[in-house]
Amino acid sequence: MVKNKNNRTIWGNRIKNKNSSFFQKISTSIDIDKRLYEEDITGSIVHTEMLFKQRIISFKTKNKIIYGLNKIKKEISNKKFEFSKKYEDIHMNIEKRLFEIIGEEAGFVHTGRSRNDQVITDLKIWMRSAIIDINSNIDRIIKSSLKLAEKNIYTVMPGFTHLKNAQPISFAHYLMAYVEMFYRDKNRFKNSLEILNENPLGVAALAGTSFNIDRNYTTKKLGFKKPTNNSIDTVSDRDFVLDFLYNISVCSMHISRISEELIIWNSEGFNLINLSDKVVTGSSIMPQKKNPDYLEFLRGKSGSTFGNLISMLTILKGLPLSYFKDLQDDKEIVFKSKDTLINSLKIFDQILKNLYPNKKRMLQLASSGYITATDLADHLVKQHSMPFRKAYQKTTAIVNFAEKKNKQLNELTLDEFRKFEPKLTNDVFYVLNLEYSIKSKKSYGGTSFDNVKKMILKYKRHND
Ligand code: ARG
Repeated sequence: MVKNKNNRTIWGNRIKNKNSSFFQKISTSIDIDKRLYEEDITGSIVHTEMLFKQRIISFKTKNKIIYGLNKIKKEISNKKFEFSKKYEDIHMNIEKRLFEIIGEEAGFVHTGRSRNDQVITDLKIWMRSAIIDINSNIDRIIKSSLKLAEKNIYTVMPGFTHLKNAQPISFAHYLMAYVEMFYRDKNRFKNSLEILNENPLGVAALAGTSFNIDRNYTTKKLGFKKPTNNSIDTVSDRDFVLDFLYNISVCSMHISRISEELIIWNSEGFNLINLSDKVVTGSSIMPQKKNPDYLEFLRGKSGSTFGNLISMLTILKGLPLSYFKDLQDDKEIVFKSKDTLINSLKIFDQILKNLYPNKKRMLQLASSGYITATDLADHLVKQHSMPFRKAYQKTTAIVNFAEKKNKQLNELTLDEFRKFEPKLTNDVFYVLNLEYSIKSKKSYGGTSFDNVKKMILKYKRHND
């Protein structure tokens, strides 16, 4: 229940019967939105300065309000502030304390604004720094991936499609695929920063205000690009929240994908990577176990971030214009998603620093499954001017034959090859070599060692 300094609710003259304590508990959000105290105070100070500039409040009142707000900021950051559920949310907790510190003049601070514009101003300011925080954590992951890639340009592994051996690749090229994803994540966040950067302050409850406020002034002072255009839309718009939650979901989906892959690779069946003891856990019953628990944690967390996106979409889907209490839940959702992602990014960075490819096993696995069959087909096209479809059929016949003989392609003799294509020469054995295969994938974006080296360099420059 919101009260002023005389301990009466602000709306006490209108709402005569007190809400039950159970209902008071339901409508409070202070435990969650107290996290916005700095943003709230910054917004209120700029609003107060604007009110004075526009001659809506006096110089003396302005100074008193700003003095009080700064004092409250200190109290909160020094943990000397008593948050009260009775005063519902962060806005009312601060306003109530302002009354205690400076008296009745505190009542001027809410001139020409409402909690409806106040809360989204706070949330947008918070989100701007949250995005910067997220992106610097993504940067760290990109850096660690580049480091690992740099060490593994010549590490040969099987590239998979359908989790079946497909074509040989450089392990660095594989890592660089995730660098692309994380780079896109960064850009997605940057783009959303552009879109959200419109100032809601001053649209008040939903209709704007009759006071002669200057929204351009608060826009500039609060670092927004422009004021929002429509007061009704502004107080009900949570698209920027959806963008944020979606971006977090995509980034955690990327983390989840690589985690899943690394869990598979860490299994005895694949045995393509080793994880240092720092990033595995043991079993309470099986003494031999080293489990990739943290990777599983990361994969699992994508579930809760997707859930948060769906929650917010569902909250919004049936809401007429404009503000409704339903919207209050946005902050809990947003904070949870942001904290989870930051955690995941930090954990994943540690995984990258404690991950070692099992190069021998990678090479061994890449040497099975007729992985250079496509190279053989390409060779027939290039050297013997055959249409690709015909070359594909001939190669299939060779693979079938090798399989029957229980041999790899490079274990066949030239004579055996010639049974299928008499024009083949000893060159065919170069083509079946894994490194040769990788080297030959020179098309832009392909896995050739040179391409991968260049790409790593390019991203190293970007990411400095
Ligand atoms: N705590 C509220 C929220 O987060 C602030 C806005 C309240 N406005 C209102 N008309 N009840 O949404």
